[in-house]
Amino acid sequence: MTFVETHTGRNDLPTRDFSWMVDASAKRFRIHTQAYVGEDVYKAELERIFERTWTYVAHESEIPTPNEYVTSYIGDQPVIAVRDREGVVRVLINRCVHRGAALCREAKGKTRAFICPYHGWSYDTSGKLVGITDRNIAGGYDEDFDAPEGLYRVPKVDIYRGFIFANLDPDAGPLLDHLGRARDIIDLKLNMSPVGEIRLVSKPYSVRYKGNWKFQAENIVDQYHFLFVHSPFSKLQTKYGESTGDFGVHKAGKSHAERRNTRYHGDTYGCSQGHGLAFQPESDPENLKQGHFAEHFARLSEKYDEEMLCRIGGKCAAAIFPNLGMIHHQIRTWRPLGPDLTEVTVYPYELVGLDDELNAGMLRSQERFYGPSGYGMPDDVDIFSQNTEGLRGRAVEWLILERGIGSDVETENGDFRGLPASEACQRGLWRKWASAMKGIEQ
Ligand code: FES
Ligand SMILES: [Fe+2]
Repeated sequence: MTFVETHTGRNDLPTRDFSWMVDASAKRFRIHTQAYVGEDVYKAELERIFERTWTYVAHESEIPTPNEYVTSYIGDQPVIAVRDREGVVRVLINRCVHRGAALCREAKGKTRAFICPYHGWSYDTSGKLVGITDRNIAGGYDEDFDAPEGLYRVPKVDIYRGFIFANLDPDAGPLLDHLGRARDIIDLKLNMSPVGEIRLVSKPYSVRYKGNWKFQAENIVDQYHFLFVHSPFSKLQTKYGESTGDFGVHKAGKSHAERRNTRYHGDTYGCSQGHGLAFQPESDPENLKQGHFAEHFARLSEKYDEEMLCRIGGKCAAAIFPNLGMIHHQIRTWRPLGPDLTEVTVYPYELVGLDDELNAGMLRSQERFYGPSGYGMPDDVDIFSQNTEGLRGRAVEWLILERGIGSDVETENGDFRGLPASEACQRGLWRKWASAMKGIEQ
């Protein structure tokens, strides 16, 4: 038995075609209720999407030195992302090969060996089985016992600017092809740091909601909902401005119309890989010369021209298919736990090389909107549960995702560029979903 030959779960992959649940044409884009609530759809998603797509598992700054690890997930499968003794980053299924116990129960740590809590089998940080307790005693194992070599190693692991992705499909194409235009968002976010790096240091914040994982993937790049779901926050912005949030860099606008115009600018993309991207460059370079970040932007201007500086200093967000979000100064992941249960985890990050005071300020800003008592995240989580409640009304079969469809423009690489007020981002997710959810020949 080797490290990678045990992956046979795909043999029972159902062949049913679910792609009809996206009813798309030039002017029409509708999603069937079952795509959000169906048990069979969910099971097929785990196999056809999460076992075949590059998924984000961890960030390198969480495991900077040999023998450091974090536990994570690919879809619903538990994994350990670990830097082994030699410094190689590996992603291992967090399951003892003996009788299946979850091997590592800590969220994060450093160890020379993973020791199974059930019967004590031990593995080094490369996943190699290095010890079987009481192996040779009477009633133990015979001399010719066919011992496994070790934990199941996820066959494909690759890293882009510190973001560790893994893919259970040994035949998967390159990570960079999967990321495509989503790299622009990662680059813009990281290039805000003087040295182009981020570091995850705060403890993450996790929340579960009673709803499908795709609600979160759609929402993180949904400009449309903000002024409605977050209307109490929006009213506070009117009263107090953005001075407590982004240090005065972003102007919220005083009236509803002004705030709407602030949100609806820039470009959105629905990418062929399923990503939704929203770019909102700063429209007035003078704004970058004000606020707490003024000095920082002045230094960055030695490296970047004005257009790029406005892109870096503006806002942008991404839903990187299938499980990674980027918004504000945070990495966000979502983990499917069932058709109507999802866990979201928010990891605020520091910009390496930035003054502590600015990093601390951005953390406070995170807490204001995304924290447990923040103004924003609880609103979103609540609306996801409300969506689930609404979808019980099965007498209505289809949801409408056509906003701005007439203004979508297909680009040379197969992405669709949309207007900022449109639902182009969400259509990108669903186009990819439909192609992944076609029946697969056995
Ligand atoms: S299940 Fe791990 S040692 Fe038995
Ligand atoms: Fe929101």
